[in-house]
Amino acid sequence: MKKEYSEHPAAMAEFNMEMFGFSWIDFVTAIPSPLLVATNYKTNGKPNACLQSWACFNGKHAILSSVNTNGHLYQAIHETGVTALNFPSAEIYDKCAATIENNEYDDDEITQSGLTVEPATLVSAPRIKECFMCLECRLLWEKPIVEGDNHVLMCFEIVNVAVEEENLDENGKGRYGESGFIFNLHHPINPESFTGKAHDYVAVVQKHIDTGEY
Ligand SMILES: Cc1cc2nc3c(=O)[nH]c(=O)nc-3n(C[C@H](O)[C@H](O)[C@H](O)COP(=O)(O)O)c2cc1C
Repeated sequence: MKKEYSEHPAAMAEFNMEMFGFSWIDFVTAIPSPLLVATNYKTNGKPNACLQSWACFNGKHAILSSVNTNGHLYQAIHETGVTALNFPSAEIYDKCAATIENNEYDDDEITQSGLTVEPATLVSAPRIKECFMCLECRLLWEKPIVEGDNHVLMCFEIVNVAVEEENLDENGKGRYGESGFIFNLHHPINPESFTGKAHDYVAVVQKHIDTGEY
């Protein structure tokens, strides 16, 4: 039997994350979303890094679907018109998350988080060397999710794809190895029995069904 929810569940009344831009729907659905680090140069030339998990990909286009307009990422994309989207495996998640603490304007957010800067090939942005894949992107357009919201959709053209050679061979490490791609599982909460405690998880994608050759 399906339970249905069209408004904030009563058992979750105390759980209000809207000040952080989240809805109760995030926690009841807990839909996985890919984890990546968007990188740019700030106007002072220092590398910026922003962990992002609301994103989707459609051929040669990438959409960051909830970029905080008060953050450095939004400002840097406006100034440069580009970004690099770096995909980490689980081994380096902690370092990627450390970019949230190393977030001062004068910080080299990549190096100070224990990661290595390498230049992108076709756009003026730093890449994270330890990430197994990076999409170099140019901004096409942006739009507020709803008028007046401080989170916007940003759509990019992917102009270059850089992938570690060992991750290209699915018989070897592959893209879906034991530790990556990684996804954000956002506080999976049962609204019927919520106790006031919740956890985020990092998930690793595994191939499950081979749908045959084509
Ligand atoms: C798992 C996770 C996912 C996140 N996803 C997003 C996101 O999709 N959009 C966003 O604006 N911030 C997101 N954040 C918050 C930013 O990473 C954080 O506020 C960051 O320090 C902002 O960096 P900036 O000032 O360089 O923009 C996420 C944080 C975590 C821990």
